[in-house]
Amino acid sequence: MAIKSTQNHYGTVAICIHWMSALLIIVLLASGIRADGVEDAAAKVPFLRVHVALGVTILLLTLARIVWWWRADTKPVSIPMPKLQDRLSRAVHVLFYVVILGMASSGVGMLILSGAGSIIYGGVAENLPDFWDYAPRTPHAIGAKFMIGLLVLHVGAAIYHQFFVKDGLLNRMWF
Ligand code: HEM
Repeated sequence: MAIKSTQNHYGTVAICIHWMSALLIIVLLASGIRADGVEDAAAKVPFLRVHVALGVTILLLTLARIVWWWRADTKPVSIPMPKLQDRLSRAVHVLFYVVILGMASSGVGMLILSGAGSIIYGGVAENLPDFWDYAPRTPHAIGAKFMIGLLVLHVGAAIYHQFFVKDGLLNRMWF
């Protein structure tokens, strides 16, 4: 299989980045919601340890993804579909980048402003701050809802193409 994409199929690098991002986002949503729902600081810290490490990972992966598409690879041509659907699909793809970068930067912002990094990775859990005292916490919560909305649209579209239109769209993003 080719490293770079062809006119009709994504390349190995694009496929790996896509599925790694999908997995990271699901674990990030789950660990973020879980951390938010726990009152006890000692119980919250293990979720945040996973969440912050994966949050920084998806930031780096997304930056690598942008550089990959910008400098090295070209996307396959769009599958023929009604104009409105095509526009919606492009908008969802761009919004994924915006929301991922927004979530990652608000997350890093919360961590820097609160100084919680040293507590999450080795400090005394009882000293964990209330992240709602810091401005980036609100956009982080709103971004999470947006991210879930985008995932519903994106996965819904993939299922629709795979099982109803049967145009093999999903195969283009697999090995
Ligand atoms: C795409 C990346 C990310 C996603 C999808 C994500 C997702 C979430 C979600 C769903 C929540 C709970 C929000 C709520 O229900 O109000 C949350 C909270 C949080 N996230 Fe993220 N996050 C991401 C990146 C990051 C990064 C990079 C950091 C830090 C470097 C971070 C630090 C935090 C912190 C400190 C909280 C607050 C937990 C609490 O209030 O108990 N996140 N995140």
